[in-house]
Amino acid sequence: MICRILLLIKLSSCVCGTFVVNVTQTSYQAEENHNITLEWTFTTKTDSSLNSLQILCEIINPLKCLYHLHEGVEVSESQDEQFAGRVQCDKDVLREGRLRLHMSRLRTEDSGLYVCGVKTNYGANSGRCHLNVTAAADESKPQRPTVSPQPESQGRISLYAGLGLTAAAALLALCAGLFSLCLTKSAEKKGNVSAVI
Ligand SMILES: *[C@@H]1O[C@H](CO)[C@@H](O)[C@H](O)[C@H]1NC(C)=O
Ligand SMILES: *[C@@H]1O[C@H](CO)[C@@H](O)[C@H](O)[C@H]1NC(C)=O
Ligand SMILES: *[C@@H]1O[C@H](CO)[C@@H](O)[C@H](O)[C@H]1NC(C)=O
Repeated sequence: MICRILLLIKLSSCVCGTFVVNVTQTSYQAEENHNITLEWTFTTKTDSSLNSLQILCEIINPLKCLYHLHEGVEVSESQDEQFAGRVQCDKDVLREGRLRLHMSRLRTEDSGLYVCGVKTNYGANSGRCHLNVTAAADESKPQRPTVSPQPESQGRISLYAGLGLTAAAALLALCAGLFSLCLTKSAEKKGNVSAVI
């Protein structure tokens, strides 16, 4: 059942017609422990209601759910624990076709490619942006120990490697089940697929 539903979502997501999801910024830069607001805009119709709105935002590589809205209701069960209590959506502007996600207390591991899929009863699409969270300068230790840069530079390298795959990864994630993670996770937790779909 999940597969059939995913296929439907997948197909509608990949038919990129007049329904668009834009990013207001393709790349964000922030420092650890700071806050940031990621913003997407999507096509609205005057007669549309929030009840028909489904939104899934995920970080790719590894795929983790950041935000899930189902028929206008937030599904917190879907959210990965990495983002628990740190992501807030501005529900007031959703009606205007603006998806604003406030992320607080940023961590370096929040860095990556973010994809938000928006599905309405008049279309579906997705938009992506990068977030780069740099480590906060540690004032108590102005000089880094000589051994410590190693893991950090490895992290950077894998981040670059990940970014190199950006287009492919994003397309893959979208077309091979952008919605799968959130749906699967909440289905597992709720033990009831129909509650999620
Ligand atoms: C970040 O957001 C939290 C609430 O989400 C707030 O308490 C805090 O003051 C903000 N920090 C900065 C640096 O804006
Ligand atoms: C998306 O971006 C295109 C090109 O900049 C613009 O024409 C369109 O109005 C935007 N749509 C939304 C919903 O933001
Ligand atoms: C992230 O930000 C740091 C500091 O500005 C910069 O040196 C690095 O190149 C950025 N990484 C990416 C992948 O943009």
